[in-house]
Amino acid sequence: DLVILAYSGGLDTSCILKWLIQKNYDVVCYMADVGQNEDFQKAKQKAITIGAKDVIVEDLREEFISNYMLPAIQMGLVYENRYYLGTSLARPCISVGLVNAAKRLGANYISHGATGKGNDQVRFELSVYSLWPEGKIIAPWRLPEFFEKFQGRSDLIEYAKKENIPVAATPKEPWSTDENIMHVSYESGVLEDPSAIPPKGIYKMTRDLQQTEDYPSIIDINFEKGLPVSVRIPSGHENALLVTNFLPLVQTLNKLGGQHGIGRIDIVENRFLGLKSRGLYETPAGTILHKAHIDLEAYALDREVLRVKKYLQDKMADFVYNGFWFSPEANYTKKCLELSQESVAGTVTIQIFKGNVTILARKSSTASLYNKELVSMDVAGGFSPEDSTGFININALRLKEYSRFTKYTKF
Ligand code: ARG
Ligand code: SIN
Repeated sequence: DLVILAYSGGLDTSCILKWLIQKNYDVVCYMADVGQNEDFQKAKQKAITIGAKDVIVEDLREEFISNYMLPAIQMGLVYENRYYLGTSLARPCISVGLVNAAKRLGANYISHGATGKGNDQVRFELSVYSLWPEGKIIAPWRLPEFFEKFQGRSDLIEYAKKENIPVAATPKEPWSTDENIMHVSYESGVLEDPSAIPPKGIYKMTRDLQQTEDYPSIIDINFEKGLPVSVRIPSGHENALLVTNFLPLVQTLNKLGGQHGIGRIDIVENRFLGLKSRGLYETPAGTILHKAHIDLEAYALDREVLRVKKYLQDKMADFVYNGFWFSPEANYTKKCLELSQESVAGTVTIQIFKGNVTILARKSSTASLYNKELVSMDVAGGFSPEDSTGFININALRLKEYSRFTKYTKF
């Protein structure tokens, strides 16, 4: 039987690879390049040495950015008010790669190294079942014969040594990270105590505020239908840098955002299984784009559409976090949210400095609902002030009725 293993090159999936081979499976390793900092050649060599039949390395960075990361910004997806879903969004993208490989090679199984307590197992498996209903999953960390054999890291290291699996000389950081072009996440290990301040030097994409630039950077971000399409960095008048392709756009904002310490959070979140977990995240480009998008959207959208959309984006963030990217409810909600973005077009000028994204100005390129004459303090603009008297009187009616029964004594 042929298994496609989602392989990272790390200790866990290397031991899983060997274990599957010892169980008489043929194993092809699959590595998705979603922008993580990884030596793919080295990891590939390692998997072959352990006994993989083959190793597929696939560059999914463009797919991840254009089909997952930027749509999430367009839809305004934020989990529990703070987390921009960098890992949650990458899982369905990687699952597409895994399933395509499985179908291409005629495999029967997909295997992964996610633990039984986490969200990632749910996301991988629900995505795989949606895309490939006949597919079967091997999740070793949920199999007693596996987790009873490997109780902790030391068991894995011992097994690796016995089976000639190369183990990194410098032990890995005492926490777990997941990395892609949108973000890096850090959890477990020394981070498990939410009351403990994390050790210095964890973050990879962003600088500490003591080390950030001491001058601000100004950036123009251009949106069409709620999607960022270009950024302009006016470094001096003539030689402004204009970036128009998705990949360099995100890379440029990551670099600049990182230099200014943008997009770090330290939160306790609710996992789908019901447990709470503490995590650190850094999402430089994603944070800049989300903040700019929110500003343009409030400018372009009707008030009531904005409020209905708020409800839908919270629902969609839960669907994505919980692993239901491929589902009827996500299909439906995504279409609704996209529909709201037709008029979200224009340029937002932002400043990034010392960890902050500050909006400086915005300009809509569609027929904006903003009416300068109408709102102006200087001209009437077709507005009849006496109408507001009636508006207030009618609204006060209900309040006056209520005050017949309730006296406000404390303020
Ligand atoms: N808690 C985050 C999420 O559920 C990050 C998960 C990180 N995954 C990992 N395998 N380290 O989206
Ligand atoms: C894991 O359990 O493998 C990582 C954490 C998560 O998926 O939530």
